Amino acid sequence: MTFPSQRPRRLRTTPAMRRLTAETRLAPAELILPAFIREGLAEPNPITSMPGVVQHTTDTLKRAAAEAVELGLGGIMLFGIPETRDAEGTASLDPEGVLNKAIRDVRAEVGDDLVIMSDVCLDEFTDHGHCGVLDADGYVDNDRTVEIYAQMAVAQADAGAHMLGPSGMMDGQVAAIRSALDQAGHTNTSVVAYAAKYASAFYGPFREAVDSQLKGDRRTYQMDAGNRTEALREVELDLAEGADVVMVKPAMSYLDIVADVAAMSPVPVAAYQISGEYAMIEAAAANGWIDRRAAITESVLGIRRAGAHMVLTYWAAELAGWLKES
Ligand code: PBG
Repeated sequence: MTFPSQRPRRLRTTPAMRRLTAETRLAPAELILPAFIREGLAEPNPITSMPGVVQHTTDTLKRAAAEAVELGLGGIMLFGIPETRDAEGTASLDPEGVLNKAIRDVRAEVGDDLVIMSDVCLDEFTDHGHCGVLDADGYVDNDRTVEIYAQMAVAQADAGAHMLGPSGMMDGQVAAIRSALDQAGHTNTSVVAYAAKYASAFYGPFREAVDSQLKGDRRTYQMDAGNRTEALREVELDLAEGADVVMVKPAMSYLDIVADVAAMSPVPVAAYQISGEYAMIEAAAANGWIDRRAAITESVLGIRRAGAHMVLTYWAAELAGWLKES
């Protein structure tokens, strides 16, 4: 009888041993909660395709932010759904517009105890649902859009956002936002660049969440699913333009990209576990096909293991609660 001289199982014998030798751990501080606020709502509105996620009223958003502080979350990422939309998304620039007001309300509620992030993008504000304004041919006009993003960024920083998240995948958006912020005196407002953002089928439930008006797709600005090298170019450009954090999105179908970016980025890497990833696990769990808590924990752990320093996830609060228990 010969015995294996190497026995990796020795380090798996007990929960305590496994805890000691764990290579990756989860902590509430790395989790960011994406949250939706809808203008004119009297009661929070459940999002059918994202069980457990709602469009918030001002009151419930403030409560969610306060709870995020109690749980020790890293941040909250705010998305606004306006009552009226137009071709240019002008409501995005109104200091009293839904998103800018939400930023102000949340900042008043939590101060600096939570990193308040906000979406710099036009898709929630345009009546055609694209992330930018259109030219005469219906093509998203990069440079005119970037000018609007720069104004949005200043409005959001004025409202009190700590970190801005340009998610529209326009060329030069980070540089334009950085320079506008600096000129407005917001030199300490940081930018989390959605650097490698792919055109994904998994954004489906988000479109319901923000009542998206989009017909068609975003393939002229978001990346093709098969492209890996191109992600590095996008990240390098955003770094050169002054990104403070770079993001990969979606997360679960793009873990190789997360790993690639983590290997080369001198700044923290974020990954966004998006609406469709949330919906898939919730739906399978609701059918009794997977263990909900174990699947959620494993999915976020996998994103962290791939190299993401911080994870945007709709489970941020619930997961942080579990982490506090254990
Ligand atoms: C665009 C934006 C989207 C998401 C975040 N920001 C949608 C899109 O690009 O179509 C998707 C997030 C998710 O699916 O959870 N402002």
